[in-house]
Amino acid sequence: MTVEPGTRVLKASAGPDAAETVDAVRAAAACLKAGGLVAFPTETVYGLGADACHGEAIARLYAAKGRPAFNPLIAHVAGVTAARRLAVFDAEAETLAAAFWPGPLTLVLPKRPDCPVAALALAGLDSIAIRVPSHRTARALLDAFGGPVVAPSANRSGHVSPTTPAHVLADLRGRIDLIVEDGPCAVGVESTIVALLGPPTLLRPGGLPREEIERVLGHALLNPAPGETDDAPLAPGMLASHYAPKARVRLDATAPREGEALLAFGDAPAFDGTVLNLSPRGDLIEAAANLFSHLRALDAAGVTTIAVMPVPHEGLGEAINDRLARAAAPKP
Ligand code: TXA
Ligand code: MG
Repeated sequence: MTVEPGTRVLKASAGPDAAETVDAVRAAAACLKAGGLVAFPTETVYGLGADACHGEAIARLYAAKGRPAFNPLIAHVAGVTAARRLAVFDAEAETLAAAFWPGPLTLVLPKRPDCPVAALALAGLDSIAIRVPSHRTARALLDAFGGPVVAPSANRSGHVSPTTPAHVLADLRGRIDLIVEDGPCAVGVESTIVALLGPPTLLRPGGLPREEIERVLGHALLNPAPGETDDAPLAPGMLASHYAPKARVRLDATAPREGEALLAFGDAPAFDGTVLNLSPRGDLIEAAANLFSHLRALDAAGVTTIAVMPVPHEGLGEAINDRLARAAAPKP
């Protein structure tokens, strides 16, 4: 393909039927077909898409993100029919797909022998992570492209995931071909990842609460054995600080200290310094949607420490606390 300097920004925020959106989606699909890198919105976070069957495009994607090549990617498809061409679905996989797709759930399944996804995208594993996003623009792009699109979160490796087009540009401007803009992401944390390679196992808490999945399955999800977490399927614990801002993060802070910035949840204590509240009314859905943009905003303010108030662990609180723990982990 002809490589244009810089990153083109195309708008899809006027709705799926607007001429501008139709043009943006068509251009993005053509760019993917040519082996290009396209950032696009999903309901969870912005993804950085590449043609899943195009090894060279995937190599460029790892380079653009600065991502360790052993971390496998999620294949995004338009629906369950397309997903069945990539992976073997057992009864529980069918049940979860029927209940939660499209939506913020990724299933890790045995890959089919004839799965066309490039081995590089799967880091050589025999399993494949698949997701059907519900975001209108993601769906339009997958329909127009007509094949699987691998898409990690559209941030430099180790940074927090992007929930707005501005976050994507801050990390990747000039390193990717195109970004399709359609506002902030409604969910705000990445998809929940469930492995169905044995007893159903929660690999990453995310935008779909564990309790909803367990209700549909009729039994509890296992937790991953150490060394099998989402960020380190092959290399135990290596990327514990994956979601790190530059500032130090102090968790379960009931009172902020002088010089800190406060990331509040619910009723915030009176404080002279910078305060951003994940959800003044203590709503976990609102808190998830604000998590990464508030972390980025406090980090951009240049504070050395972000004090984070306690967040309850139920529902989306499991994913929020997981991301906060990673943000607070010692940097590699
Ligand atoms: O919400 C999301 O899932 C976003 C949007 C863009 O779809 N994507 C996302 O991708 O968060 P990424 O690459 O940042 O995270 C995908 C995670 C990685 O931690 C990877 O290790 C795990 O999925 N993963 C992918 N394939 C896997 C597999 N076969 N087995 C176990 N884990 C896998
Ligand atoms: Mg990521």
